[in-house]
Amino acid sequence: MEEMPVLHTKWCGKHWIHLDEVASTNDYLKQGDFADGTAVIADRQTAGKGRQGKSWSEAPVGQAMYLSVLFHSMKISDMGLLPLLCGLATARSLGAAARIKWPNDVLLGEKKVCGILTEAVTDFESGNIEFAVVGIGLNIFEAADGYPDSLKGIAGGIYENREAAGELDRSRLAAEIVNALLEETRELRLPQEYIEHNLVPGREICISDGDKIRRAKALEICPDGRLKVEEADGSLSVLSYGEVSIII
Ligand code: BTN
Repeated sequence: MEEMPVLHTKWCGKHWIHLDEVASTNDYLKQGDFADGTAVIADRQTAGKGRQGKSWSEAPVGQAMYLSVLFHSMKISDMGLLPLLCGLATARSLGAAARIKWPNDVLLGEKKVCGILTEAVTDFESGNIEFAVVGIGLNIFEAADGYPDSLKGIAGGIYENREAAGELDRSRLAAEIVNALLEETRELRLPQEYIEHNLVPGREICISDGDKIRRAKALEICPDGRLKVEEADGSLSVLSYGEVSIII
């Protein structure tokens, strides 16, 4: 266990674990008995998980950053906002150019540089959340031979190449994200800044729901973090985090 640098926090990230390699930083926190706010960062992830049961691609050491943070005592009613606030915290740490694609992808330009997976472990008897884990996968730079075909034109890195990323202090960036996350989750409500940084409202989108894709128009982000859309037949629907993903 290491001291996390430049942290303002008394709990979130106070316990900081650095692993050379792990299957999934989210699973690592879910399977252990860790203090509230424990943060784990890994240089390499061999079985990373993405949203909607997808896998999260494995990158060579240095090319990506994998970070997860544990939250004890989270109310079910607050879980819907957690991924959005995590997206906002990450976007803020990356600077003014970063944008959010509902619910919590972080983009620079038109490229996704960060994916976030929030998971909760529920106590079946009480139905309460035992703990939640927020996992952040951040592409630091694109490899010289680029991303796999399925991610070409979609994924990007926060730096253009390895040389440009050379000076990046990863621990500091991780600490800044955790600081911002702490700030954002102090009050679980959706700030206007999230809406202002979001690319989606007003755009024509494709909604990917299991193996079906449909067109709709994104209208607005509701205060509880759900997305209101106008379907192709003119009816209104409200989409929740985890149910669908969208393509813009
Ligand atoms: C997405 O599908 O966009 C979400 C990807 C989340 C990936 C991160 S990497 C760190 C953490 N550990 C995992 O197994 N997944 C998340």
